[in-house]
Amino acid sequence: MSILSGVSGFIGLDIGTTAIRLVELKGSGPVKVLVRYASIPIDPKISQSEAQADQQKLSQAIKDLLAESHVVTRNVAVGIPSQKVFTTVVDIDRLPPAELAKSIRFQADSIIPTPLAESKIDWAMTGDSPVDKTKVEVLLSSVPNEFVEKRLDMLESIGLNVIAFEPDNLAISRSMLATDTSLPQMVVDMGSTSTDLVIVMNGAPKLTRSIPTGSEALIRAAMQNLNIDATQAEQFVFKFGLSKDKLEGQIHQGIIGTVDILINEIDKSLKFFTSRYQDSKIDRVIVTGGASALPEFPLYVANKFGISVEIGNAWRNVSFAADRQNELLAVSNHFGVAAGLAERQE
Ligand SMILES: Nc1ncnc2c1ncn2[C@@H]1O[C@H](COP(=O)(O)OP(=O)(O)OP(=O)(O)O)[C@@H](O)[C@H]1O
Ligand SMILES: [Mg+2]
Repeated sequence: MSILSGVSGFIGLDIGTTAIRLVELKGSGPVKVLVRYASIPIDPKISQSEAQADQQKLSQAIKDLLAESHVVTRNVAVGIPSQKVFTTVVDIDRLPPAELAKSIRFQADSIIPTPLAESKIDWAMTGDSPVDKTKVEVLLSSVPNEFVEKRLDMLESIGLNVIAFEPDNLAISRSMLATDTSLPQMVVDMGSTSTDLVIVMNGAPKLTRSIPTGSEALIRAAMQNLNIDATQAEQFVFKFGLSKDKLEGQIHQGIIGTVDILINEIDKSLKFFTSRYQDSKIDRVIVTGGASALPEFPLYVANKFGISVEIGNAWRNVSFAADRQNELLAVSNHFGVAAGLAERQE
């Protein structure tokens, strides 16, 4: 522990399916200054595997990334993949803080899907319940101890000091949204294996969902429906996406069923939100993640829901030299989680 707090700083670390990424910021206040960002690709077979040998390779890759990018601090805030986290919003009787904590712990067992004894739970009060004046609204999340402990062991074995674990979807909503907005917005992070949805209002998450559909599923759908190989499917999907004028709309046809799985989940989430918070309306949808580069995806979402869709910017709350704008925007789709972790006020 440092006596002058903040002296050693920390990095935000995103261990994703296709790459490991880090962001380091300095300074305090709402807008911190970019010190560095870096990433190293990783084979999805390794990042998705629980096997000891693969975990070893993963930790070696993190070590290499830290060395190559000349990171000095050993402090890290680490993302937890949303698929590993259960998050829900519950209404709980308004009680003094100490009793509220007890009451939440007591009720958690019947809410979270995994056994309480094997789960790490965390909660935050997010405001008054919109449906019952006698209750407050609490965001409750849980993650299996086993996952957190394994990650912690791996990171400590390479000399890192984990100062926080945070679900990816909470980290990304921090980097994607303006710090001064209270308008309800939805963030859609389309990655390689999954897509995360988060609705944030007044700075607090009101709904989170993780859907096991990302660019891998799109490429698989194109392969099967168009009878083409993986390389060709990837090229076609990345290049033509949802466009109906390219290749007589064949790519659109091949992947639309998979895209509509996401659209359905977005629809359900928007409906849930408007039924619970009746006076509020989602102001916009912010799309990010590597797969959000799918041509015409933002347009498709905008037309489907008649809502504004914005391309997210991982660096919107970070300050950096003006001449780095293009370089940073080129990687923005991939750095939302790492930037959001680095923006934590620690
Ligand atoms: N133009 C494009 N259209 C669709 N998908 C794309 C395009 N360009 C890149 N991708 C996909 O983006 C993926 C990487 O996205 P991202 O960096 O967000 O994933 P990740 O964080 O590693 O995955 P996850 O969040 O699922 O763990 C790649 O797997 C690639 O297939
Ligand atoms: Mg990701």
